[in-house]
Amino acid sequence: MTDPQDDRLPHEDLGASWRKARPRPAGRHLDSAACSRQSHRALEAAAHHARHEAELGGYVAEAASDDLLQQGRSVIGGLAGMAAADVAFVESAQAALIALLTGWRLPAGSRVACLPGEYAPNIAQLRTYGLRPEPLPVDGLGRADVAGVERLLAADPPSFVHLTHIPSHRGLLQPAAEIAALCRAAGVPLVLDAAQSMGHADTDLGADVVYGTSRKWLAGPRGVGVLCVRPALAAQLTPVLPEPEGVPPMRAFESGEAHVAGRVGLVVAVGEHLAAGPHLVRERLGAIGRATRELLDGVGGWRVMEPVDEPTATTTLAPPEGVDVVGTRTRLLTEHGIVVSAIGPERAPGEMTGPVLRVSPHLDATIDDLEALAAAL
Ligand SMILES: Cc1ncc(COP(=O)(O)O)c(C=O)c1O
Repeated sequence: MTDPQDDRLPHEDLGASWRKARPRPAGRHLDSAACSRQSHRALEAAAHHARHEAELGGYVAEAASDDLLQQGRSVIGGLAGMAAADVAFVESAQAALIALLTGWRLPAGSRVACLPGEYAPNIAQLRTYGLRPEPLPVDGLGRADVAGVERLLAADPPSFVHLTHIPSHRGLLQPAAEIAALCRAAGVPLVLDAAQSMGHADTDLGADVVYGTSRKWLAGPRGVGVLCVRPALAAQLTPVLPEPEGVPPMRAFESGEAHVAGRVGLVVAVGEHLAAGPHLVRERLGAIGRATRELLDGVGGWRVMEPVDEPTATTTLAPPEGVDVVGTRTRLLTEHGIVVSAIGPERAPGEMTGPVLRVSPHLDATIDDLEALAAAL
C-alpha cells in the first residue's frame, strides 16, 4: 500500500480534513462528477431544517432560514462573480437552463453557438425552446478554438453562446475566460454551464449567466441547483409570474415549492468549500487528475482521453477492443467496491465515438485508491 502522504498530491491536509468531515465511504468513491459525498455538517444542517419543518411548520421554518439562504445566495453569487440578488435556487442544472430559457423568450429559430460535444440534454432543451444549436469551432480534443470563436462572433453572431465549462464525458476545461472576454466585446451573452465546474474550477470569469448543481463538486445535497444571471440580462427575462415589489427579480425563478432543507445543506457545503480555499481545492483536484491519468493510461489496454496535465480531477478512459464499459463499471462496484461511471456516446453524440469509463475523485482520494483501480482494471 502506498503512503497516502504521497508527494504527487499537494495539500494532503485538505484531503484529510475533507475525508474526516464526512461519513466513511463504503468502498472507494471516485465518482464526484456524478454525485459527491456530503459532509456531516451539510447532512446535519439539512436534517435540522427538516426537523424544524416538523416542529414549526414548513413555511415558518423557511422564513426562519431566510437569512441563511440569503447568505448562501451571496456566497454562491461570489463563485460566479455576481451578487446575492443575481442568484436563484433551483432544483438542478437542467432546471436552471429551463428557467433561463423560459424567461428569455427568444424568438424561435434563434441561433445558439455551443460545443459539438455539448451535453445532449442541453441540446434537447435548446431545441424544445425552438432554438437552433450551431457548433463552435474546436480542436481535435473538443476544446473551443478561441481564434475561431472570435471569427464566428465577428462574422455571424449568434443570439448567445452556451459553453459547457467542463463536459460530463471528458475532463477537459474549456477556455471560458477568453470566450467570456470575446463575447463581452462582441455584445453576445455567454451562458456558462458550470454543472461540472462549480467547486472544481474557477467560475468567476465574466459570463453573463452561470448555472450549476449542488451535488457534484460542491458536495451539497441532490435536488438543488443554482442560476446566476447578471442584472443587464436578468432585466430582459420575463418570468411566468413576477415577484412582488421589493424582491430581486431573479427570485421569480425560484420555485415556490422546493426542497428548502437541501438549499440549507448546499449553503453549508459552499461555506466549507470557501473555508477550504477554492484555489487550494483546485490545485489538489488538478493534481489528483494528473496522478489518475499517469497511473491509468495504458493499464489493461484502457486509454486516457485527456491531456495528462489538464487541470481537472476528471479522467475518462476508452476501453480496449471488445471490453464492455457498463459491465466493467458494474464489476468494479460489485467486486472491488470502486464507484465510477460508465458514460455512453448518447451523452455527447456530437463528439463521442464510443463509451468511456469516467473516474472523478474528490479531495479525499489517495494514490492507494487510484492504484486499487488500476489493479482492478
Ligand atoms: C455538463 C453538465 N451539464 C448539466 C448537467 C445536468 O445537471 P443536473 O443533473 O443537475 O440537471 C450535468 C449533469 O451531469 C452535466 O454534467
